[in-house]
Amino acid sequence: MPIKVIVVKDYEELSLRAARHIAKALRAKPNLVLGLATGSTPEGCYRELVRLHQEEGLDFSQVVTFNLDEYLGLPPEHEQSYHYYMRKKLFDHINIRPENTHIPDGLAEDPEAYCQEYEAMIRAAGGIDLQLLGIGRNGHIGFNEPGSPFDSRTRVVKLTETTRRDNARFFRSLEEVPIHAVTMGLATIMEAREILLLASGASKAEAVARAVKGPKTTELPASILQDHANCTFIVDEAAAEGLG
Ligand code: F6R
Repeated sequence: MPIKVIVVKDYEELSLRAARHIAKALRAKPNLVLGLATGSTPEGCYRELVRLHQEEGLDFSQVVTFNLDEYLGLPPEHEQSYHYYMRKKLFDHINIRPENTHIPDGLAEDPEAYCQEYEAMIRAAGGIDLQLLGIGRNGHIGFNEPGSPFDSRTRVVKLTETTRRDNARFFRSLEEVPIHAVTMGLATIMEAREILLLASGASKAEAVARAVKGPKTTELPASILQDHANCTFIVDEAAAEGLG
């Protein structure tokens, strides 16, 4: 199935559309298993989900979540950890049960064994119904950097220099950006029953165009999504520039 692309005017509209999409899935299935992403892109969507909960009673009491990734070596209370991000941006403001949220453990004693456990937890939850994704400038999804095998599962990865530099804006210096992360693999992501990818801004235009129209290649990890049966991109006009 080709990737469905919805082009919206700007970041604000993208955020509202994405939140509405998730809210609709949640109303249809209150015990939705939701895959979540971090980074700048989903922040507006999370803000709107919080508003929908607080003002319109959107109920997260039965929702189960699995985050895509976490930096290796950062404790959950570190301000740049994805544990911290998820609490501050979403979980602290909605009625989700903490025991229903899952984020890879950046401090796992045996990270390789932990990755297999994470896969087992996803399977035990019945698999992911709806996976939210962002996209890196280099086409990564999760922390599946260019060159990641299409059959990869949850594992420890080394971040590329591009990604470390892109993310350095959140740290005091580039040196502080962790070198490794735990990420769901491309095959793990592809098993989600539905995928929703968000992209905003001109810096994402080339990656979006190559993901949607380009050859399927491990050099542009998001191009694997062309093989997914139910994948939608919501992109703003700037990120849609290369789609022609
Ligand atoms: C984050 C993640 C990454 C980001 C991507 C885009 O959990 O998996 O793939 O989605 O790096 O990041 P932003 O949204 O900050 O441009």
